[in-house]
Amino acid sequence: MDAAVTGPLERGLEVLGALGADGEPQRPADLVKATGLVRSTVDRVVGTLVERGYLRWAGREVVAAPRLMELGDAYLACSGLAAPLAPLATALADELDESVSLAVPDGDGARFVVQSPRRRAMSVAFRVGDLLPAELCAPGPLFADSWDAPRWAAFSRRLVGTEQGEKQSARYSVPARPADPSAFRERVAEAAARGWAADDQLIEPGLVAVAVPVRGPSGEVVCALSVVSHTSRHNVASLWAHARDAIGGAVTRMEEALRQPLPPGGRTAGEDRSRAAKRELGPGFLQSLDRGLAVLVALGRPGGATITEAAEATGQPRATTRRALLALEALGYAAAEGRRYVLRPKVLDLGYATLSTLSFDDVVRPHLRALVDRVHDSASLAVLDGPDIRYVARVPASKIMRVAISVGTRFPAYATSMGRVLLAALPPAERAAALAAAAPAPLTPHTRVDPAELRALVEAAGRDGHALVDQELEEGLRSVAVPVRGRSGRVVAALNVAAHAGPGDAAETAARLLPALRETASALEADLAVSGVMPVSP
Ligand code: PHB
Repeated sequence: MDAAVTGPLERGLEVLGALGADGEPQRPADLVKATGLVRSTVDRVVGTLVERGYLRWAGREVVAAPRLMELGDAYLACSGLAAPLAPLATALADELDESVSLAVPDGDGARFVVQSPRRRAMSVAFRVGDLLPAELCAPGPLFADSWDAPRWAAFSRRLVGTEQGEKQSARYSVPARPADPSAFRERVAEAAARGWAADDQLIEPGLVAVAVPVRGPSGEVVCALSVVSHTSRHNVASLWAHARDAIGGAVTRMEEALRQPLPPGGRTAGEDRSRAAKRELGPGFLQSLDRGLAVLVALGRPGGATITEAAEATGQPRATTRRALLALEALGYAAAEGRRYVLRPKVLDLGYATLSTLSFDDVVRPHLRALVDRVHDSASLAVLDGPDIRYVARVPASKIMRVAISVGTRFPAYATSMGRVLLAALPPAERAAALAAAAPAPLTPHTRVDPAELRALVEAAGRDGHALVDQELEEGLRSVAVPVRGRSGRVVAALNVAAHAGPGDAAETAARLLPALRETASALEADLAVSGVMPVSP
């Protein structure tokens, strides 16, 4: 294989793997240590991945960015399991009032692709993307029934803790412990004989789980369904007695769902990549890394893609696409199935588990921080709450004089830039009703209170895609806001910068702040879309 092409992709995946492992920010020097790559390579890889939005700088450290989830999402889409089966897992969890999960075989482990947890004082904390060693979980024995000899050999090496085995153990979400291979073989035989397997406090004291196989249309085990409980409610026998009928029904429905043709879907990786292409890419930009990751994303449709389909989706030459596919296959991220390439569960190693548990605040805050660093004024995000706006995130500028606003603060929508942007996004009837109910009052000598004028200002905000409010809420305070859209294109929040109405007029303030506001809104929108987090609505 051509090292000039596959090398950067391989190194990029190594860096992503090292950063994704625990989600902690790392200095480039840490990455040099973790990957064994030289510093200049790490710098170029990091530069390219930051440019692409998969990583971001947090001071002098780099950290995985929500956008990186698009790689794991591509695997989940490709597997064709998560979308059709997740609602059925949730229904089973509701029926039993216990946590339910789905895991796929991955090497000699089980990796979660669906989690429907019950929130309890004592609850399971595994995430989509987490990998458990087969011998410590309920799905493991079900998967091991079809292991080949090399897999059993690798498993034994890991259990006895040889150097190679230790390296392998490091991949798991829980510390593996030395174990007896023959005890596991007995569990495998028992599970095969009775059709279900158990975890009797193997992974953690107090946790009990039972698992059954779920088969694809050709009869092969594609994943395992687990029901997880606690010894305060059940032991393994009582959990199985309680859950077996409901589990049986759920498996029947799941296997039926897997026989349905899947909607083709799939994203064209070319789409949003062209955005960055228009920007100036630095001299260190590793195009072959970028292209390889685009090919990975292009496999993110049920059943994967052929070389031709992947080339079409990425807009890249067939030869380039083929080399990237071969590299992804060699690294264990993709596999050939006939003429098609599919993604392997290992893709979820690239930071997915950590990123999937980010909160709204985790996703939003770095964007507000970067905006504040750029414009040196406070930045906020707000939603509509009745006649008011309510702040849902805020990063103040470090100035002596600053506005005392915190998360939860409310202001009347009509007198604020964020309020006008949010009102403009309402359907016409709701907007009219909200304005009619507003009862505008002169908060400062500048506050606009005339209903017709306010209506016109809100309409202008809708047309212009921004609003500027000059000292209408508080004298000396000028603010500019833009809308922030969710995955569906609906406006889910407004983003603003509040500045001192100092030198210069309102038009100059707008000209200074708008480019930064718009760029921040669009970067934030991309992260909100991929992470699926939303501001909590009132
Ligand atoms: C889980 O879904 O969290 C789970 C499943 C099976 C186990 C342990 C945990 O054995």
